[in-house]
Amino acid sequence: MKTATTAATVLAICNLAAASSHFKRQNDTGVGLAYSPPYYPSPWMDPEAEGWQEAYAQAKAFVSDLTLLEKVNLTTGTGWMADLCVGNVGSIPRVGWRGLCLQDGPQGIRFADYVSYFTSSQLAGATWNRDLIRDRARAMALEARDKGIDVLLAPAVGPLGRFPTGGRNWEGFSPDPYLAGVAAAESVKGIQETGVIATIKHLIMNEQEHFRERGNGISYGYSVVEAISSNVDDKTMHELYLWPFADAIRAGAGSVMCSYQQVNNSYGCQNSAVLNHLLKEELGFQGFVLSDWAAQHTGVAAAVAGLDMSMPGDVTFNSRTSYWGANLTNAVLNGTVPEYRIDDMAMRIMAAFFKVGRTIEDAPEINFSSWTRDSDGPVHWAAKEGVQTINQHIDVRRDHGDLIRRIAAQGTVLLKNEGSLPLNKPKFVAVIGEDAGSRVGGPNGCPNQGCNSGTLAAGWGSGTASFPYLITPDAALQRKAVEDGTRYESILSNWEHELTASLVGEPDATALVFVNANSGEGFIEVDGNVGDRNNLTLWNGGDDLIEIVAAHNPNTIIIIHSTGPVVVSEWYDNPNITAILWAGLPGQESGNAITDILYGRVNPGGKTPFTWGASEESYGVKIVYEPNNGDDAPQGDFDDGIFIDYRWFDSQDDEPIFEFGFGLSYTTFEFSDIRVERSNASEYKPNTGESIPAPRIGANHSSDYTDYVFPEGFRRIDQFIYPYLNSTDPKQTLGDRFYGDEAEDFLPPGATDDSRRPAHPAGGGPGGNPQLWDVMYTVFATVTNTGSVVGEEVAQLYVSLGGPDDPAKVLRGFERIRIDPGTSETFRADITRRDLSNWDTVSQNWVISDCPKSIYVGNSSRNLPLHAALQ
Ligand code: BGC
Repeated sequence: MKTATTAATVLAICNLAAASSHFKRQNDTGVGLAYSPPYYPSPWMDPEAEGWQEAYAQAKAFVSDLTLLEKVNLTTGTGWMADLCVGNVGSIPRVGWRGLCLQDGPQGIRFADYVSYFTSSQLAGATWNRDLIRDRARAMALEARDKGIDVLLAPAVGPLGRFPTGGRNWEGFSPDPYLAGVAAAESVKGIQETGVIATIKHLIMNEQEHFRERGNGISYGYSVVEAISSNVDDKTMHELYLWPFADAIRAGAGSVMCSYQQVNNSYGCQNSAVLNHLLKEELGFQGFVLSDWAAQHTGVAAAVAGLDMSMPGDVTFNSRTSYWGANLTNAVLNGTVPEYRIDDMAMRIMAAFFKVGRTIEDAPEINFSSWTRDSDGPVHWAAKEGVQTINQHIDVRRDHGDLIRRIAAQGTVLLKNEGSLPLNKPKFVAVIGEDAGSRVGGPNGCPNQGCNSGTLAAGWGSGTASFPYLITPDAALQRKAVEDGTRYESILSNWEHELTASLVGEPDATALVFVNANSGEGFIEVDGNVGDRNNLTLWNGGDDLIEIVAAHNPNTIIIIHSTGPVVVSEWYDNPNITAILWAGLPGQESGNAITDILYGRVNPGGKTPFTWGASEESYGVKIVYEPNNGDDAPQGDFDDGIFIDYRWFDSQDDEPIFEFGFGLSYTTFEFSDIRVERSNASEYKPNTGESIPAPRIGANHSSDYTDYVFPEGFRRIDQFIYPYLNSTDPKQTLGDRFYGDEAEDFLPPGATDDSRRPAHPAGGGPGGNPQLWDVMYTVFATVTNTGSVVGEEVAQLYVSLGGPDDPAKVLRGFERIRIDPGTSETFRADITRRDLSNWDTVSQNWVISDCPKSIYVGNSSRNLPLHAALQ
């Protein structure tokens, strides 16, 4: 039996994750920048890895038969716009393999027609509905498959969402790592069960768009060349940012995209600590790492640091040069890159392919071109060669519109309701704001959605698709009004203040005000926002519009379309504002979904997947908008550690306006009867043993350089990246500037070591030590619908780990439950070993501290009526 502990002893035993920081440390002179230690060699595949055995055997059979040139061709993209997809790896015609087509992205298929435009991942996250999240991913992947796509560049859990203003947060699910991890795992499963490889991205710490890429500083008018470094300590890395990646890898993700920016001053796609150590060794990742587009900055160094596929293949877009291709062939031939490394790259790529159930023969035709809507045109777009039919305009949408409508409605969060909702045949509805209407130029009028006009249904950047239609709120609400015999008028502008005031001031008007705040990827600037938002205010005068309407109308309902929180402090508690809804980025069914919610066809059950603070400052973090390290790489110090979003607000005792996990319903719920069952999980054992020695897959290749030059009479396509050498003279092979005489000397120690490797104590299976997922406790609680309509409640379980360095509580379980009025359902959640552990930077393993642990159950991070201590 445990005896009572004094505060002092709690502190002493709880101090497990003390300041020791494994990653972020100073250089040898004791001063200087965060530093990423070297980890070599790059781990090779484990033939026995859980879930990968069969794929390994199939890959081995296939790769054994390949030549060095063919293996290289698998690893290197053919160049930007060289082929039909956003990324393509070379074919192996000898065995009838057409190569791979890689395509974005997280909200639908990019650069293709007759596809669906799904909700943002963030809005899917707001449903807290595992099944729906999986259905969404599966639907997206079915569309991808039917277009001939092999690798879908989704889902994203990085950015996680440290900054509320982060441009790409909507491409991920939530800044909470548990919610993001569950959603990512469901998405990986949904995608891969269709035969498409999922890509979990962007590994890692890609939290802001400003300075994310090498050269960004220059393009912003500064002399800074290098990309920003996200500087993070080991504990934060594990307990926060790496967490959802582990879930995705455990779910079997076939590929990982490494990120543009630096991690502790080493670029994401050549960071051996991240790729070799964390990803492949500790998380036991068996698939392949592909670079973000032009995020590769070295050849050999990236190869030994764990990169497996170069995207899009050229050094910079259309540079005609590649760090790999011929350079990789040469590097293997001259012994700089060990042969097992090229074998392992090829194995990982092919194993991922076989793992999702594909065969070499089963190669769906790539029936679209990313670069034009013309039916006929060049296959090799950059070179304008190979004219044929490249767009078959195949409609792959099925009935996904219904699903999208359901997700959008289920994700919509009711933030305030003084009884004005649901609407019931109102006499007069006045819809106000350009966010309710359509865009001049059409829903696809701005390339990559790089503008903000009309209703906001999608953010901008690579995570975009093409709308097959976009039901605006104005269209759907008007249809409903006409059906009901309601008078309906809309003013689809934010600037007609006088007209607006007079319309909403008429008797009996229910005013629906649509406002938005947009963001996206840093390669496009919209209204002065370089991807990341400049602030948390509403766009296009939205706050003024709200003020005007609320000043003239006592029944003002606000609908926010946004990529994250906005500051609502000035108006949310105005008594004339009777309801507030957050509808995220709803995709093509926007208007239908919001109508479903406003009229109660769907009872709101979404919960905000992020915190709504009173001000931007209340989040305690700010994007690095300007260089802060002279002409060198800007430094982004993640000093807030694991305290982001609600964990930060809790630590500051700061009351947010709407807390993480909050969302109302048209009914009410009560929580009662918490019960905790302890399971008999076996004792946690560090993973031990050794790997196999690095295998050589296939016959030894010839060392005769004549076997590697361009075949006689070979017709080269301009700008296409090939594996062939230009010459048999090793010094002339490449004809570009990346060759160095001192090649053998520049590899870090251990980089070519092919002997057995000791196991990582926290490793042992995809995602990490399998015992981390042992169930330690099961929690039960009763949820009762105490209102008069059927509704869905998201029961949430939080754990307090109890240590002095721990957040007050962290989310560790949830379930969305449908409950009939007057009845009860049981909420059940398993708490795993991982859920209760801290990362111990000394033993490099997860440890359950002796600190007293408690659990809380309720329906938001701040409404947790039930609690219990864990014995
Ligand atoms: C983005 C990736 C995307 C890639 C290909 C990059 O700019 O960061 O998320 O998958 O482009 O379009």
